[in-house]
Amino acid sequence: MSKAVVNNRCSKRIRNGHLWGYKGDIKHIEACGGDVVSVYDEANNFVGKAFYSDSSEIALRFFTRKDKKTDENFWKSRIRQAISLREGLVKNSNAFRLVNAEGDLIPSLIVDYYNEVLVIQTLSQSTEKLKSTFVEILKDELKPRSIIEKNNTTVRLLENLELKEGLIYGENVEEVTINQNNLNFFVSFGTGQKTGAFLDQRENYLAARKLAKGRALDCFCFAGGFAVNIAANCHEVLAVDISETAIELAKRNAQQNNLSNISFYCSNAFDFLKDLDRAKERFDIVVLDPPAFAKNRQSLKKAIRGYKEINLRAMKILNSNGILVTCSCSHHFTEELFAETLLSAANDAKKRIHLIEKRYQSPDHPILMGMPETLYLKCFILRVFG
Ligand SMILES: C[S@@+](CC[C@H](N)C(=O)[O-])C[C@H]1O[C@@H](n2cnc3c(N)ncnc32)[C@H](O)[C@@H]1O
Repeated sequence: MSKAVVNNRCSKRIRNGHLWGYKGDIKHIEACGGDVVSVYDEANNFVGKAFYSDSSEIALRFFTRKDKKTDENFWKSRIRQAISLREGLVKNSNAFRLVNAEGDLIPSLIVDYYNEVLVIQTLSQSTEKLKSTFVEILKDELKPRSIIEKNNTTVRLLENLELKEGLIYGENVEEVTINQNNLNFFVSFGTGQKTGAFLDQRENYLAARKLAKGRALDCFCFAGGFAVNIAANCHEVLAVDISETAIELAKRNAQQNNLSNISFYCSNAFDFLKDLDRAKERFDIVVLDPPAFAKNRQSLKKAIRGYKEINLRAMKILNSNGILVTCSCSHHFTEELFAETLLSAANDAKKRIHLIEKRYQSPDHPILMGMPETLYLKCFILRVFG
């Protein structure tokens, strides 16, 4: 049986609700990478069961504090719990995150559901080893049309796992249409972004829709999620993204929802915002949903400059009383730091800001209290004056 002994710092962290043990926490280990290990503290008390990685700094990913057998039935019950949670949480959509890794106590496993097509990511040595078990359970429980593996994300390199993607079950599907908030969106599995779509913004689209009016700008629009959701309430929407593939998809999404008031631009949003200000263009609502500028703590300083710049420029081009919907999906860029950066941007832009709402990722991406890493998406809605 695979076994590990960890220091007291780690056992305390796990008993407080966190799920990770680091390489340096391990006092003794008898296991191979990818094993499920029983973990004990220095006084030989059972701490929990965890996935073991022999290459990552995150060496242990705990999934239970009970000393239970972890066979196929154990994982079946975990996946069933995740499915039943979504039944109450997700409204108005046939696309949602079905398993959110640590948030659903199946660390490093992501499963997204797109209208009968499942996309799976196994992001550690253990979930990679258990992949065929998960696939069999998902087939039995959901009878999907297809299961696609999107294991091309670079976090797998930390686990010494190869990058790969492709069909693992069912018919070959390149694209599906999903319905979300009573709108249709094409999800193309070859776009290279996330598992196909940004499902974590579903409810934030609706929050933006409620406040949208007049002339709108959607920066970093990807497939047009915000633009398409707010267009019916606006007389004109401009949407910009640096990726041509994203803009093509966004155009098709506008078309299929019969929205003719959105203009799409393939451009760098930093330059686009600067040019709009120079040309004295003004808007009633601006959405900023950039990629994660801070991928780790080391890149935080540069990230703060990036977030400040786009927010300052957005505030400048808003009419007084305008709405700024501004997001950050970097876990390292905390809510407090985000608030400070927004205030600093407002002061430099000589604007006054009211906080209307602080929002997070959609509820099918559960946030585990005790594990701050599971809260990554912040969405602040501000009213900008002056
Ligand atoms: C978090 S995603 C946006 C998701 C989108 N709002 C949605 O709800 O589907 C970030 C997007 O920013 C784009 N992007 C990255 N760097 C950019 C830049 N400098 N200028 C414009 N777009 C950029 C990416 O192509 C990606 O589509």
